[in-house]
Amino acid sequence: MENKRIRIFDTTLRDGEQAPGASLNPEEKIRIAKQLARLGVDTIEPGFPISSPGDFHAVQQISRELQTVEICGFARSIKADIDAAVRATQDAAQRRLHLFLSSSDIHLDFQLRKSRQQVVEMARTMVAYAKSRVDRIEFSPMDATRTGEEFLFEVLEAVIAEGATILNIPDTVGYAMPEEYGRMFRRVREGVRGGENVEYSAHCHNDLGLAVANSLSAIAAGVTHVEVTVNGVGERAGNCSLEELVMAIETRKETMGVETGIVTQEIFNTSRMISRIMHFPIAFNKPIVGRNAFQHEAGIHQDGLLKNRNTYEIMDPEKLGIPRSMIILGKHSGRHALKHRVTQFGIDLNTEELEELYIRFKAKADEQKVVTDDQLMELVGSTADGQKEAYTLVQMQVVSSSDRSRMASVTIRNNQTGEEHIYSATGDGPIEAIVNSLKQAIPMPVEFSDMELQSLSTGEKATGEAEVTITVNGQMYKNSSIDQDVLLAVAKAFVSACNQAVRVQKTAVLTKSATS
Ligand code: KIV
Ligand code: ZN
Repeated sequence: MENKRIRIFDTTLRDGEQAPGASLNPEEKIRIAKQLARLGVDTIEPGFPISSPGDFHAVQQISRELQTVEICGFARSIKADIDAAVRATQDAAQRRLHLFLSSSDIHLDFQLRKSRQQVVEMARTMVAYAKSRVDRIEFSPMDATRTGEEFLFEVLEAVIAEGATILNIPDTVGYAMPEEYGRMFRRVREGVRGGENVEYSAHCHNDLGLAVANSLSAIAAGVTHVEVTVNGVGERAGNCSLEELVMAIETRKETMGVETGIVTQEIFNTSRMISRIMHFPIAFNKPIVGRNAFQHEAGIHQDGLLKNRNTYEIMDPEKLGIPRSMIILGKHSGRHALKHRVTQFGIDLNTEELEELYIRFKAKADEQKVVTDDQLMELVGSTADGQKEAYTLVQMQVVSSSDRSRMASVTIRNNQTGEEHIYSATGDGPIEAIVNSLKQAIPMPVEFSDMELQSLSTGEKATGEAEVTITVNGQMYKNSSIDQDVLLAVAKAFVSACNQAVRVQKTAVLTKSATS
């Protein structure tokens, strides 16, 4: 039997943007919307047109530029909101309007200060008004999961009668339990007049960590649209995470009998892009897109994985566009993993050298939680002669001041010639100054593509970890370093990434000359 198609409705740019500190300007929204289209979402809710001229412009521009995706105009059940949403989405090739109105007593009494009768009337007249302008109308009774069934049914019957064809029943405050949420859809479909003729949509918040479970339960109950955000961003604990929901469906599609149109290869890129633009960091242990999601430190796990990745992995990270680097070297790692890692760097050690490296590595791993690649390469350098890194950062100085550009100077040793040279440069910030001086030292077309800084401990002796990604001739290299001085950690990670690029390019030249 064919899998049923679940439509992914992305509200990263509307509900997701409501996360504290995550607001976006129109250009950023347009960039993200284009990436969401590449990701293969079915519907994009790009903002709240009445809320600001910037949001109106973003929704309008996205409607004009993205003609292959359905665009949703969001509005309170108020004429002015509906008018703005209609105008903003005017040029979309496919569109729907999404109206919402609170239905729980607590919202009616304290927020709307309206009676149930007034609310039903408002929902009825506004859906009728919206329907006269746009054919496809979605209606959300806000705080539905804390609304008594009788009144919920009354509101839903009224909006169906006026032409709403998609009922989105939100768990606004993340209160529902999976079984309860699924049952609610079944009861609505059976109990509401006209309920069997409309489409259903789930919209879950993650206050109890149940947003994905609740959405899956809704799907099992027959819902065909799910509202999600990338990285689960959103108010408070966020919304149902797109990548988690999609990968649960993808990984267990035989069990669920459903599928989505998401291009999984684009998941990682999209997640990183949104995290960066929204300044919204991703927890290390976040499923699917967190840095540790496909990394293994325990020796037993590493050994099993190197023999067959299915021993400890249920998804292939490469199918999600995640560069495979599953081995994290730490005190639990064994010889097998260590050998695998140095081989990945193109370094071939004999048994004795490996043993010597292993002893030094264990000593280092005991000192700190993780042994980074640059530290591993330092250990390799002092283990196997002739396999040293191309460049070593010998010294670094940075001058920072609040009222002028920053200055950095670095001493770099070219390990092939043994020569040391000093290079200096300025930049708007100290990192730019460091990178500019290192670029002079390393004669390659290096582009500084990305950087992540994390604090690894607390207190005055805290250390920082820098993860730097560079691009050389279209190829990305990533490396990390840990130091109490975060600027030094950035510089070391940058030099290590360059060394990795030199090594890979040298190996490519050797392989080419051996085969020609
Ligand atoms: O959480 C919620 O209730 C919403 C609605 C307005 C759909 O975001
Ligand atoms: Zn919401």
